[in-house]
Amino acid sequence: MIYIAPSLLSADFSTLNTEIKRVRDAGVKYLHLDVMDGAFVPNITFGPDLISCIRKCSDMFFDVHLMIKRPERYIDRFVKAGADSITVHYEACENPMSVINLIRSYEMQVGVAISPNTPVEHLYPLVEYIDLALIMTVEPGFGGQSMIPEALDKVRALKKYVSERGIQLDIEVDGGIKPENIGLVTSAGANIIVAGSAIFKAKKPRSVIQAMKESAAQNPYKG
Ligand code: DX5
Ligand code: ZN
Repeated sequence: MIYIAPSLLSADFSTLNTEIKRVRDAGVKYLHLDVMDGAFVPNITFGPDLISCIRKCSDMFFDVHLMIKRPERYIDRFVKAGADSITVHYEACENPMSVINLIRSYEMQVGVAISPNTPVEHLYPLVEYIDLALIMTVEPGFGGQSMIPEALDKVRALKKYVSERGIQLDIEVDGGIKPENIGLVTSAGANIIVAGSAIFKAKKPRSVIQAMKESAAQNPYKG
């Protein structure tokens, strides 16, 4: 199943409730929430307090992407705020396996992300213990960048690795994805597709979401 996950980072923060409803009404289940700490990445966004506010007005699946150093310090806060899945960066954890176990202890879905310079092989020992792997297709930190095509090789390699071993894993991609290039990531094996500026900066987000779904359906992973 392919899911489009609009990233709230590119929404108009003065009307968040309306922005969220707009994508929900377009038939989207996932909402991607980018948390940045100004240390792991050179940008600061929002934290658990904002997430618990929007939790009150949305039943969407909150896919929380933590771009923060030593995320283990804050997992309980994001659980209480209403996250449905929590994804941490491999590069931000001293011991990724212990952070995975911590997130799991809350009976929460768990993901691990890798930045463009991190080899995909680092994920291999972890894939049995996580629900999703997030392959960054831009340097984390900002919306509106162009997709790095080399990241597609990592998606293909990871998809092959898990398929050969019969491991169930969602592969998420994040950064620079729009209707024109979504087919490249779905045919490479990704099934959760984050898009921020392509959706929220569009005049008609619903049409963009529809175009992305159609192109994804026309470009499936074929093994
Ligand atoms: C970047 C964030 C992304 C960002 C994507 O660090 O993780 O989720 O919002 O935005 P676009 O789709 O505009 O590249
Ligand atoms: Zn993200």
